[in-house]
Amino acid sequence: MNFDLVIKGGTVATAADTFTADIGIEHGIVTAIARGLPDGRDTIDASGKLVLPGGIESHCHIEQESATGAMTSDDYLSGSISALFGGNTSFIPFAAQHRGQSVHDVLALYRERASKSVIDYSFHLIITDPTETVLKEELPQAFRDGVTSFKVFMTYDKMIVSDEMMLDILVTAREHGALTMTHAENNAMIKWMVRRLVERGYTEAKFHAVSHPAAAEAEAINRGIRLANFVGAPLLIVHVSTDEGARLVQAARTDGHPIFGETCPQYLFLTKEELDRPGAEGAKFCCSPPLRDAQTQSDLWRHLHAGSLQLWSSDHAPYRFDASGKLSAGPNPPFNRVANGMPGIELRAPLLFSEGVRKGRLSLNQFVALTSTNAAKIFGLHPRKGTIAVGGDADIAIWNPDERRVVTQSGMHDAMDYTPFEGMELTGWPETMITRGRVAMSDGTLRATRGDGAFMARAPFDWTGYKAQLPPELTPETNFGAELL
Ligand code: URP
Ligand code: ZN
Ligand code: ZN
Repeated sequence: MNFDLVIKGGTVATAADTFTADIGIEHGIVTAIARGLPDGRDTIDASGKLVLPGGIESHCHIEQESATGAMTSDDYLSGSISALFGGNTSFIPFAAQHRGQSVHDVLALYRERASKSVIDYSFHLIITDPTETVLKEELPQAFRDGVTSFKVFMTYDKMIVSDEMMLDILVTAREHGALTMTHAENNAMIKWMVRRLVERGYTEAKFHAVSHPAAAEAEAINRGIRLANFVGAPLLIVHVSTDEGARLVQAARTDGHPIFGETCPQYLFLTKEELDRPGAEGAKFCCSPPLRDAQTQSDLWRHLHAGSLQLWSSDHAPYRFDASGKLSAGPNPPFNRVANGMPGIELRAPLLFSEGVRKGRLSLNQFVALTSTNAAKIFGLHPRKGTIAVGGDADIAIWNPDERRVVTQSGMHDAMDYTPFEGMELTGWPETMITRGRVAMSDGTLRATRGDGAFMARAPFDWTGYKAQLPPELTPETNFGAELL
């Protein structure tokens, strides 16, 4: 037993169990979990600390151009460092295909961008232009290369795919073992609301919340689930922001469909009242779907506890509060010309730990599931990532459950100039981060270097426990023999 590193005496928690043990690591892999392990070449005393699987941030926008051309402030270096300080050992940002671009070129570009990352990474493809070549050649190639999930937008004029295109994409994904993700809001309802608000002079940031009604989310989630179920494909609804949306996800799951839901800190920690700040300050809080109300916050806590939603992601979309980001349309822009999104990659896990685990809303094991294990399972990384098990990567976060810190932008490691969570006091922070057996951060100091992260080729979607339930119209035995899939 010649361990490179031993983590001693901590309280280890996985999505299933909590126990006291030492963890022995060799060549970046966990090789022993036991009590009384001998010291390794390096040994960390974790007594009084929590030893958790490293977080997997599965929804973040890093070094990505928006549809309007705005670039996120974070590149793969600052974005990955910020993720690391927030308890994450890997992340899956988006590689965005804008119309007219080849998927092959997009993936090559993002692989180059991501080579700076200090933590392991993969990509979800954003598909906006599902041409024959994309569907028949480029997506299958992407799947073979281990990019096994992608996102489609049901809103935003420059990103939206029609229902017909979405069916093509869902079927292609199903055929190749990929998971489709969707931003589900009804485009027409939003555009109708925006037009009426702007025509009447209601242009301040607070009207962003009014322009994206809860009903627009419910309509699109319902339609997305219907489309996915029609062709027997799995679907993940990202950033669910309403009780009704979460209920639709839960109902589809109860009916046996491979439907998943994600929510994000902004919907549990902030309300639309933040948009009503003086001057242009409200623009800092423009994201889509928008912030809702206090009732929705408690509804979403309930859904996290009940398991209706499986993922807790930041949707880190860092646009600075200056002309490069939020104020690109001027110092006091109308709400419909503000870049959508807010930062939060570093606070995703600490917020959930402090307000979820410490305040008794969630168990520690649920916290691990929501921040790590479920993402590993849903996105084809488990059991290599997302748990602490013999044979898995030694991606480990050692948390001090009692450390109290007030959130300030100066304490963040991203490239932003504000945090929407400024001033919140949180209890419980990651203290030491280990990525594939190496100490990447300890006591507030970065130990990893540029390029330490590696691309993670992911496995196909795991169908265990689900079966595609095709309707009679798509089943040759009941549709006069027509082969449609
Ligand atoms: O407002 C948001 N969420 N911006 C980021 C892009 C997206 O829709 O996820
Ligand atoms: Zn979105
Ligand atoms: Zn997003």
